[in-house]
Formats: sequence, structure tokens, C-alpha cells
Amino acid sequence: MNLGFWGKLKKPIMALAPMADVTDVAFREMFSMYGKPDVMFTEFVSTDGLCSSGRKNLMRELQYTPKQRPIVAQIWGNKPENFYKTALLLKKLKFDGIDINMGCPQRKEIAQGTCVALIKKPDLAKKIIKEIMRGAGKLPVSVKTRIGFDKIETVKWVGHLLETKPAAIILHARTKKEMSKAPAHWEEIAKAVELRDELKSKTLILGNGDVWDLADARAKAQETGADGVMLGRSAFGNPWLFKKRIKEITIEEKLKVLLEHVKLYEKFFGSAIATPRQKILAPLHGQERTHKNFAAMRKYFKAYASGFEGARELRADLMRSEDGNQTRKVIGSFLKK
Ligand SMILES: Cc1cc2nc3c(=O)[nH]c(=O)nc-3n(C[C@H](O)[C@H](O)[C@H](O)COP(=O)(O)O)c2cc1C
Repeated sequence: MNLGFWGKLKKPIMALAPMADVTDVAFREMFSMYGKPDVMFTEFVSTDGLCSSGRKNLMRELQYTPKQRPIVAQIWGNKPENFYKTALLLKKLKFDGIDINMGCPQRKEIAQGTCVALIKKPDLAKKIIKEIMRGAGKLPVSVKTRIGFDKIETVKWVGHLLETKPAAIILHARTKKEMSKAPAHWEEIAKAVELRDELKSKTLILGNGDVWDLADARAKAQETGADGVMLGRSAFGNPWLFKKRIKEITIEEKLKVLLEHVKLYEKFFGSAIATPRQKILAPLHGQERTHKNFAAMRKYFKAYASGFEGARELRADLMRSEDGNQTRKVIGSFLKK
């Protein structure tokens, strides 16, 4: 059993969840500056894409900085041979671990038989894990998944996964059918831990779903016996989420931090909205496409600019800004008022 860096973390382990179009390299850098979780994950990246000529376009999602270690690359797909090849690539890129997405419930991924659909193809899921392990060498392999597809079948599914001896299983305590609607079933996390202990497995179990702060995360780990907790949506606009002790954060501080986020976004992805010509030419010129439209930054504005007087108007102004300079101007004039 290869626990890799997972075996060195102090429990309860606090993890920042992978979130597509959210937890990019700039977002994660904010967390390394303001309150680092024990482990971070990239957004999910397609193994088919990484094994095709489209690889250059996906390297943007695999950027990280040394400050973000331990950093785990999350990948998805359904072809064991592409998981093997991707594991070789991730080893070369010096990631600390590899995670397989067996939890995403989106229709497109399910139609391709990937992500959460692998719960319905347990033999293929096992083959995929084995192929990643073959390519990963010393890198630990984890699985992020749900407690079932149409119905709860935690013991059957987790028992199946444990046979492959992954370093960790991160369990989102909902079925695919429940999407994000039903409350997370934390009692199922306790069941998974019990099963793991019964089988005398060394695989770590992390629970996930509806945890809004560190105190709640610690309480849930204690109640269920989980080795750790993963937090997702509570991280939006809240780079202090994993900080042990936080003082009251003023509006000025919140907005200053938003501007730091903008600066990091510009550093990693460019400063403005790409022209259609730039978008077309980058791949043709064989450049890795690191540019990301500034409009993607807008989704964070709502989270940072909320909960204070004038926040609504400020948000409306921020949503109109098309680049970092316009954002800075809007915030500058708000703070002068
Ligand atoms: C916008 C968004 C994007 C997500 N993208 C991913 C992803 O790429 N990979 C993954 O395993 N889970 C993804 N998830 C699921 C989260 O990692 C997490 O399991 C889920 O949000 C439940 O945790 P929470 O209640 O703490 O948010 C995503 C969730 C959200 C809200």
C-alpha cells in the first residue's frame, strides 16, 4: 500500500475540493497565502484530452506553484490505457498524487461512461485504478466518488474500491441521483470508516458534502471517525476558510484580497478578454494555451462583494468590468466613498 504524502499528514486532514472552473492555479494560490489546507486538488482534467493533440490546451489546468504542495492532479475518462499514459505525464510534472474523478454527475460525462458512471461499471473502475497505479510509480492514487448511483450502496462500492488499495477515498456523501440537492448523508461516511476498519485496510477515508467551516469539519471527522474532510463551496471568496484562528475581516481587507486574486489571475491567465483571433492563433502557433477569459473571474465577485452595505451596487459595477484595470478602478472608487 502506497500512502505517499497522505501518510505524512496530520489528522484530521483538511482538503480543498477540486471544482471545475473554480479551483484553478490562481484560486489555489490565494489559499496558500491566507490559510493553507493540508492538500489541494486541480480541477478535473480529461485523460483523453491529455492523450490527444489537444494536450497543449489542457496544460493550463495542470499549472501549480511549489507553495501549493501537496498538490494532487484530478483526472477523468474511461480508457485504462489513457489513464496509464496520463499517470506517466503527471509523474513527470512532479505532482504529489493522482486522484480519479468517479463522482461528477454531469450528463455529458455520464453519457461517455466516465466519472460517476464508473460506479455502474465496477470492473472497469478497478482496471482504471490499477492502470494509474502502474503508471504512477511512487505517487499515491486516490479516488473521489459518491455513495451510490441511483441508490445508496456505500458498503458495496467502497468495499469494491478498497480491494485496489488506494491511498485515500474521498466520499461525497450523496448519490448521483441526489446531485447536490439532498443533504449529505454523513452517517454513510461513518459506515465507510467502519468497513475500512473491519477489513483492516490502511486506506484513508475523507468525508465531503455540506461542510461550511473548519469547526464543523473537525466535528464531522470526530463523529464519523473519518481521517479528514474535504470542503468545496464554502471556499468561494473565502481564502481564510482553512485558517485556524480568524479575526473579523473588514470590507477593506475583503476587497484588497479580491484585488490580489485579480492580480494572480492576470499573472497566470493574462489580463484581458482574448480576441477571437488570439484564441484561434495560440494553438496554431503551438503555444500552450494559458490564456483564460477575464469574464471567468466574475464568478468570484459575488462571493467577495457580499454581506456589507453597498455590496449589491458594487457587485453590479464589478460585473461590468472587462479586465483587471477596470476592476481596480471600481473598487478604488467604492473605497473612496
Ligand atoms: C462549481 C463546482 C465544480 C466542481 N467540480 C468538480 C471537479 O472538477 N471534480 C470533482 O471531483 N468534484 C467537483 N465538484 C464537487 C465538489 O468537489 C464537492 O464534492 C461538492 O461541491 C460537495 O462538497 P461541498 O458541499 O463542500 O461543496 C464541483 C462542485 C462545484 C460546486
